[in-house]
Amino acid sequence: MLRYAAISGTGMYVPDRIVTNEELSTFVDTSDEWIRSRTGIAERRIADSTETSVSMAVAAARTACERGGVDPSDLDLVIVATYTPDQHMPSVASLVQNELGALRAGAFDLNAACSGFVYALSVGSQFIRAGTAEKVLVVGADFVSRFLDFTDRSTCVLFGDGAGAAVLTASDEPAGLLAADLGSDGSAGQHLTLGGPERYVDLNGSNAVERAFMRMNGPEVYRFAVKVMGETATHAVHKAGLTFEDIDLFIPHQANLRIINAAAKRLELPREKVWVNVDRYGNTSNASVPICLVEAEADGVLSDGMNVVLVGFGGGLTWAAAVVRWTRGLLDD
Ligand code: ACO
Repeated sequence: MLRYAAISGTGMYVPDRIVTNEELSTFVDTSDEWIRSRTGIAERRIADSTETSVSMAVAAARTACERGGVDPSDLDLVIVATYTPDQHMPSVASLVQNELGALRAGAFDLNAACSGFVYALSVGSQFIRAGTAEKVLVVGADFVSRFLDFTDRSTCVLFGDGAGAAVLTASDEPAGLLAADLGSDGSAGQHLTLGGPERYVDLNGSNAVERAFMRMNGPEVYRFAVKVMGETATHAVHKAGLTFEDIDLFIPHQANLRIINAAAKRLELPREKVWVNVDRYGNTSNASVPICLVEAEADGVLSDGMNVVLVGFGGGLTWAAAVVRWTRGLLDD
């Protein structure tokens, strides 16, 4: 018999601190008008010095476990999609596993930039479908503001911090991931980067410091995103044996409202089938898709029996789409 990986609980966390476009324009050469008209973003949440990718991931994961009726001690696996870990080692996933008391769980981080949550959902679902896990926690968490250059107006206005999580449990009924499409084009990786060593010892033995910042070729990433979102969503829908007529809700990575609208237009999706919250959070990277899942369900837009398409794109460059059958409420009964 086929096994499925139902999404039985979801959770999200965003910092309390709201930074509006007006506030940004007091110290960056930008304006509310420019940011709204070019991106659709009005405000974003920015973490404070007490918050980390781990703390945000733990908060979202706790809610997902509670809502899914899963005791963390029963989890078999914790996967955290992030490109802003608190440190290179230990992984965010290991620290989340410890904080939750998921004592039986294996744990690892996955980096596919902003496509990471959809990648992680696919990986976690494969463990369940193969019969090697019963309960898997998948988290997307990023503290991107740590890596923003607040003198670079072309990047710093776009991002916010946050985390989202989903608990997957084995099911015999068609539920959770029905199909996925994952892709990467490393030849275009230079258009979106974060990194290089932050600190290293040079040949003379002295410390050199080089801060790691997010750098982006906005127009290149924009063109890539519009093209790839439609393509990957179409591949995933076909792999699921469905057509777009069967799709009830489209949840795109929340990077820019213009990108979302252009992709939806290519797919001929009506506005009411496309979930948007980029206005309130900006681009929360790996947290963006799971935060949308939480909010769409809370809003009553996402309900049982629906087929949902999730799409991510980002650094790598990478892309990913998943077709998910939503049954969370059925599991509440
Ligand atoms: N405020 C005011 N002016 C600005 C700002 C700003 N914040 N940023 C750029 N400008 C200016 C530029 O300097 C430029 O001025 P110029 O014409 O005098 O040179 C002008 O606005 C137009 O700049 P463009 O870059 O051409 O603006 P565009 O319309 O392309 O919008 C944007 C830029 C919003 C960055 C867009 O290209 C975009 O959204 N790209 C994709 C970003 C994205 O999706 N990233 C995903 C990352 S996912 C991940 O994995 C991290």
